[in-house]
Amino acid sequence: MKTIFSGIQPSGTITLGNYIGAMKQFVELQNEYNCYFCIVDQHAITVPQDRLQLRKNIRSLAALYLACGIDPEKATLFIQSEVPAHAQAGWMMQCISYIGELERMTQFKDKSAGKEAVPAALLTYPPLMVADILLYSTDLVPVGEDQKQHLELTRDLAERFNKKYNDIFTIPDIRIPQVGARIMSLQEPNKKMSKSDPNTKATITLLDDPKQIEKKIKSAVTDSEGIVKYDRENKPGISNLLSIYSIFSKRPIPEIEAAYEGKGYGDFKADLAKVVVDELAPIQQRYHELMESTVLDEILDRGAEKANKVASKMLKKMENAMGLGRKRK
Ligand code: AQP
Repeated sequence: MKTIFSGIQPSGTITLGNYIGAMKQFVELQNEYNCYFCIVDQHAITVPQDRLQLRKNIRSLAALYLACGIDPEKATLFIQSEVPAHAQAGWMMQCISYIGELERMTQFKDKSAGKEAVPAALLTYPPLMVADILLYSTDLVPVGEDQKQHLELTRDLAERFNKKYNDIFTIPDIRIPQVGARIMSLQEPNKKMSKSDPNTKATITLLDDPKQIEKKIKSAVTDSEGIVKYDRENKPGISNLLSIYSIFSKRPIPEIEAAYEGKGYGDFKADLAKVVVDELAPIQQRYHELMESTVLDEILDRGAEKANKVASKMLKKMENAMGLGRKRK
């Protein structure tokens, strides 16, 4: 069985973007691959976090992974900071990275833009992500389109390490969904939907209630044309809503366009809200049950134990390859 690794930051409640771009893929792939799904809390602290809120977000994200359908009997679910090999291997990957290539990362540019004091970890975040992936001899990384550049860096650094030290890393492939790889903000449809967006009207989170969902979709920015038609360039707002509608209803976009021909955006938005509410209702019900149970901790403990075993073996290989410490088997 080939191996998959992917992670989500507990930097807020996950959005429809994270769900469609990442989580939905994870659930489909867990039957065919040996999967490691991680709550990447060390990535989350590259921007300031409130400690109590971070703890809440970590637990809530674990419950959401399971509520969305991740089966802990099939996949390993764990928290990054509970597997110290990630930070250790991240340091080694930093040592073989160049500042120039890290400065070219668009996520670094976006997150550091306009800041007077930029945390160093915003720059060195990608080598930690590289380590996350390589520690598990990952074959495939399912992510949204925004992570493509980081995945290219992962492949480059793995090849660099293999060539310079020892051929120990598998070179991972990236898997981006064909539809929904980039779900856009409801308020600024040329910007991606992000869970840490301070404008709560811009995102739909997996825990929004039906009224909030209805309200946010109703106020989603569209255009004045009044024609439900997919056109990313000229109608980014409506195109984004059409993508979400198509993914959740499992109906092709042309069929939805035809169904709303001659109708305004009001009907379309009201029906879309219903489709989203129906998709999220069972997830929310399972989520609340999980948050009240004790199984979460048991699953995360088991996940950390398994991840630690696998990751520490690779870490040892990396240390031997680079000549760190004393030679051990
Ligand atoms: N808008 C999006 N459309 C499709 N996929 C998306 N992903 C993120 N936003 C979208 C995918 O979700 C996974 C988890 O992302 P992450 O938490 O590791 O960090 P991110 O990519 O930076 O996501 P956010 O929501 O924008 O978080 P913040 O606001 O904290 O920076 C990844 O697979 C990502 O591609």
